[in-house]
Amino acid sequence: MTAADDTIAIRLLVTGASGFLGWRLTRQLERRFMVTGACRSTPVQFAKADTVQFDLRNRSSCRDIIRRVSPTHVIHAGAMTLTGECERHPELAREVNVDGARHLLNACECLPTPPFFLYVSTDLVFNGLKGNYSEEDPPDPVMTYGKTKLAAENLVRHYHGEWAIVRSALIYGPPGAPHPCFLDWMLEGIRKNEGALFTDEFRTPVFVDDLCTLLETIWIRRTTGLYHAGGIQRMSRYEFGLLAADVFGLSDANVRGCQSGCAALSSPRPPDVSLNIAKARRELGYSPRSCRAGLIAIFRQCH
Ligand SMILES: NC(=O)c1ccc[n+]([C@@H]2O[C@H](COP(=O)([O-])OP(=O)(O)OC[C@H]3O[C@@H](n4cnc5c(N)ncnc54)[C@H](OP(=O)(O)O)[C@@H]3O)[C@@H](O)[C@H]2O)c1
Repeated sequence: MTAADDTIAIRLLVTGASGFLGWRLTRQLERRFMVTGACRSTPVQFAKADTVQFDLRNRSSCRDIIRRVSPTHVIHAGAMTLTGECERHPELAREVNVDGARHLLNACECLPTPPFFLYVSTDLVFNGLKGNYSEEDPPDPVMTYGKTKLAAENLVRHYHGEWAIVRSALIYGPPGAPHPCFLDWMLEGIRKNEGALFTDEFRTPVFVDDLCTLLETIWIRRTTGLYHAGGIQRMSRYEFGLLAADVFGLSDANVRGCQSGCAALSSPRPPDVSLNIAKARRELGYSPRSCRAGLIAIFRQCH
């Protein structure tokens, strides 16, 4: 099949297209494929991709966009993602993250050929007591957000079409998307000499473009199953902040650390949800860059 044939054959629907990941993904794919970006309320425009508005909480709204777009592939990246908000509004988090996934899956199953369904999940499905989690490790979320994402994973596993689930680590990347990522807040805090970063919570931050590449490999090949997608380094936010300050030429004296126990948190937090990415490396050639390389790429793009 030629690239031109691909463009005609593939109709890709990306939910969460105004979100940090979905926006970047849509912009990367719209040049080569027929893409529709779906979001709820944030106004967003793309050079080529169509946009549609819908509400994951509303079954008929989900059915309408699936009927209208009739996708061959769905990347479901739309979600209520702020962990504190999910903790404060658990019912809403369930409606968006679990019922929303169910509505989309049911609508997809009603198409004559159910599309390939790629669900973006999270490292926060783990309790963080072990770290270096592989796909075989049993999930045990401690926060509402992780619980809703795991519940949605379990719905995806019963989908009547082909599916894949990618559990992403903490995502960082260049500014510009309608929704910011944690790096934007972190750099603002360091510049203003405000706030403190946890020294005792560990993730494997992943550069957004590396994650997009993995997602593309999966949906293009229609690879099914569960994959972990983190970066190559296990880091606390404090360590990431020190690295970001170094790359961006900011004073490391402005990077202050604190223990999560010192902060007034709305829920328990998993201490170490670092992901083991051996399966994606082995089977899909996944090769994420180091955090320093990712931060340098962002710095160069900004200056
Ligand atoms: N960011 C991370 O570090 C991270 C880490 C691991 C996994 N993930 C997962 O990756 C995916 C993308 O995350 P992100 O950080 O890019 O998200 P984000 O920036 O918070 O954006 C969320 C997206 O979901 C849409 N959305 C929210 N509620 C909706 C609703 N009721 N109906 C329809 N759309 C709705 C938003 O649309 P509006 O703008 O219109 O509200 C927005 O496009 C999510 O599934 C998340 O769980 C993210």
